[in-house]
Amino acid sequence: MGRKLRRYVEQTLSPETAAQDYPIKTSEQEMTRLRMQSDLFRADTESMLDRIGVGLEWRCLDLCCGVGGITDLLSRRVGTEGSVIGADVDSAKLTVAGDWARANGLGNVRFEQADAFATGFPEASFDLVHSRFALSVIPDGTGILDHMLTLVRPGGIVFVEEANVQTMECAPTDPVWDRALALLVDTFANIGADVYLGPKLYGMFHTIGLTELRVRPCLHALRAGDPMMMHLPGTVEGMRDAILSLGTVTAAALDQIVERLREHLSRPDTLTISYSMVQVVGRVPERGLSRASMGRVGGLV
Ligand SMILES: C[S@@+](CC[C@H](N)C(=O)[O-])C[C@H]1O[C@@H](n2cnc3c(N)ncnc32)[C@H](O)[C@@H]1O
Repeated sequence: MGRKLRRYVEQTLSPETAAQDYPIKTSEQEMTRLRMQSDLFRADTESMLDRIGVGLEWRCLDLCCGVGGITDLLSRRVGTEGSVIGADVDSAKLTVAGDWARANGLGNVRFEQADAFATGFPEASFDLVHSRFALSVIPDGTGILDHMLTLVRPGGIVFVEEANVQTMECAPTDPVWDRALALLVDTFANIGADVYLGPKLYGMFHTIGLTELRVRPCLHALRAGDPMMMHLPGTVEGMRDAILSLGTVTAAALDQIVERLREHLSRPDTLTISYSMVQVVGRVPERGLSRASMGRVGGLV
């Protein structure tokens, strides 16, 4: 069965079925990595939310929010009369997100389990719909953009922050860095995800007919001791089953790559440059978008 047809069938099933397509396993380590990733890019996201002008009483949705995503940043801006929904397919992450929101007093945030391709939320019911590090790592993830467009009210905002692994570098370089990165890229390509997606979103937003486009790439230097320095070996471990299913590396060889990469990244003289997070923002015209332009991205609407 083709991926798009499978996706269509899954939409009639359950979020649990959709979750099986996602290649990074849910674990304590992965949930910690998501939290560290949020910390790394926090100031970048805050700055774009300020430029957008997210304010009191806005109704916001953070799609594929993982263990909380940017719901805390939205929560503070929309105030008690506003509302924030965080949605994800993974109920384990949502449980952690709920505890975290309660511990941080985020009273205007609620979390719901939903497939990002077909959430079931009412059409045109949000002032802002956001998604981060999801469209680039989920099979046929740009189809999610089609659904996001249906959820934003006329005049509302679509805000996507997506990865581009093109910027990832390690100095001094080492064959295990190149090997691990190639395995990650090949595995995502194999499942139909595009980890170079970030900059391509600008053209998509333009073609769709979104207005007032803003775009900004964000990336960071990392060195020994930085919490995100181990993100490549950590992600490779989280994708272990998906990588092994490619059949290009044995389990023993993969373990050795991860171990040697961790050693290399622990050296005090090793510097890495992160994947970039490309922020793209657009406004839905007041007259709305035509159905034809909304279906252009993933071809599912
Ligand atoms: C890399 S994480 C990003 C999490 C969050 N946006 C952040 O920036 O911290 C991708 C998230 O997408 C979720 N996901 C995968 N497939 C999904 C789908 N079909 N619908 C909704 N969420 C999905 C995963 O469970 C995971 O939490």
